Amino acid sequence: MITRLTLVNFKAFRRLGLPLGPLTLLTGLNSSGKSSVLQALALLRQSVDNGAQGLLLNGELVELGSARDVLHDDFGPADDLSDVDDPAVGFLVDAGKPFRFVGFYDPEEPDEDVMRMWVGGGTRPFDAAPFQYLHADRITPAVTYPRSRQVAIDRGFLGVRGEHTINFLRHFGEREVPDGPLRHPGASSPQLRDQTVAWMQELCPGVNLQADAIEGTEFVRLSYGFGGTAGINATRRRRPTNVGFGLTYALPIVVACLTATPGSLILLENPEAHLHPKGQSRMAALICAAAATGAQMVVETHSDHVLNGVRVAVKQGALQPEHAVVHFFRGNGSGTEVISPSIDKDGMLAQWPEGFFDEWENSLDQLLD
Ligand SMILES: Nc1ncnc2c1ncn2[C@@H]1O[C@H](COP(=O)(O)OP(=O)(O)O)[C@@H](O)[C@H]1O
Ligand SMILES: [Mg+2]
Repeated sequence: MITRLTLVNFKAFRRLGLPLGPLTLLTGLNSSGKSSVLQALALLRQSVDNGAQGLLLNGELVELGSARDVLHDDFGPADDLSDVDDPAVGFLVDAGKPFRFVGFYDPEEPDEDVMRMWVGGGTRPFDAAPFQYLHADRITPAVTYPRSRQVAIDRGFLGVRGEHTINFLRHFGEREVPDGPLRHPGASSPQLRDQTVAWMQELCPGVNLQADAIEGTEFVRLSYGFGGTAGINATRRRRPTNVGFGLTYALPIVVACLTATPGSLILLENPEAHLHPKGQSRMAALICAAAATGAQMVVETHSDHVLNGVRVAVKQGALQPEHAVVHFFRGNGSGTEVISPSIDKDGMLAQWPEGFFDEWENSLDQLLD
């Protein structure tokens, strides 16, 4: 597990040291650097996947532009990461031991999208262990989804928009969710297909889903059933385009969590998107269950229901308090400061900084005024 990530000269950060836990919530104002943390991890993964030949700024996981785009505007020396004085972006990854990655900026080639990279200590945190990264912008209801054997089946990757989730479910639907916190007690079996349905029913009671190949094409189809018409024998299946948006949007998050294994690294942006408040807190419970299973979850969220869902999971003993790490990003005029309120065993936060999920109270004050 990665216990600390330090970014040097990367995008919004001159320097940022961030402790990470089994579950890390990144919260805070817009454009304060939350996604940059996920992007840094994905960038390293993408570069290592590509043979660690260089820092690969544009690829399957992230498209960050050129060296000029990622180098912090007011960059300074990365001297504790490399003894070379050239301008550079640097990443220090603590995972049992330090792993260093430095991407050198070549002033002659500012528009290059591969930066010369130096790696110190190896690449282990980004080697083959299961990895998912779901962007804020995910699949929407569609008539068909791609069917790629290489991505969904050989690599088990859901796609950054979750676009391979349907094919993944079709192929691995009978795989069992191991006994433990992820297994939904109300599901009709431990199989991934039924477990996914059970968790989706937390969002929409009575819903059922099915993933099928469309023979003779490179596409798969998702269909939903509701209440009495649900199940294999359902006569009335509905195509996703005729079903609420939020269900399809949440499906990749549910599958990413249910397939989490010890050693997985799972990066999620806005798992709450398009879900009703109770659905958001149930998503938090599922994310906590994935973390309790031994996966490392790093989650960007704007949802107080996700935050509170995590607090409740801690209070109920589903996740140890020190395993839930919360960071609040906010601008302080000259950059971003990060405040990290700890959660105690009762789910209470040690501090409540101004601007940190306090809008409910602000509005209430005005209403009662
Ligand atoms: N090269 C750079 N130098 C300085 N700041 C940058 C650079 N690239 C991006 N930023 C800043 O990073 C912020 C965007 O970060 P991002 O991680 O997308 O935020 P969030 O996810 O919190 O909305 C913006 O404030 C932008 O100005
Ligand atoms: Mg963001």
